Amino acid sequence: MTDFWSTPDGLAHHTPPGCPWPEGESPIPYLRGLFSGFDRVLEFGSGSGRLAPAFTDAQYIGTDVSPIALTVSSAAHPAKTFVRIEPGGNLPKADAALAYTVLLHVSDVAITRVLQSLVDAAPVIYVVEILGRKWRRGGNPPVSNREFVEYDELFHSVGATTRIVGTRPCVRYPNTEFTVLRADRDTP
Ligand SMILES: C[S@@+](CC[C@H](N)C(=O)[O-])C[C@H]1O[C@@H](n2cnc3c(N)ncnc32)[C@H](O)[C@@H]1O
Repeated sequence: MTDFWSTPDGLAHHTPPGCPWPEGESPIPYLRGLFSGFDRVLEFGSGSGRLAPAFTDAQYIGTDVSPIALTVSSAAHPAKTFVRIEPGGNLPKADAALAYTVLLHVSDVAITRVLQSLVDAAPVIYVVEILGRKWRRGGNPPVSNREFVEYDELFHSVGATTRIVGTRPCVRYPNTEFTVLRADRDTP
């Protein structure tokens, strides 16, 4: 399914830099505060790079499986670093990671490996997602929204402990909100 994201159709599912925020308001100030204490932040699934302005150039490394997305994000933010990753592959090391509306695009077959790679890469991971199985649907791309308890169990299985730290508006989809989930790597 990650092949989808490397096609022009996949690009249509990114929010291009400069487009109105589907959230209804910019999440940049919130993210800037959330990550202010971290020197090195990995964005997993950085897409068009629209969230990159939340970070300093030195702080940020964007990653994506899609070469098209990386071309767009690098052009929009030439001073920032964006690198291509393999689906389920190892990730650059960082002090914290962000997965913002990405994990719902990772299938149930692939999710454990992806979470393991995140926990291996960063001791603190923030996940911003619309939670709830009721939002699952097929199509192209399919979406695999999960309940909090599922993320809790999945992260636990790869050595991290989760908690919900907030919610954020999402005006594009009525009666929804983003949940902000934090996973901390367990100390050995
Ligand atoms: C809906 S976009 C979100 C982009 C960005 N986080 C944002 O909020 O603007 C989902 C992104 O996840 C990427 N993606 C999908 N599956 C992935 C995977 N297995 N590993 C890394 N990135 C993936 C896609 O290429 C796409 O850029």
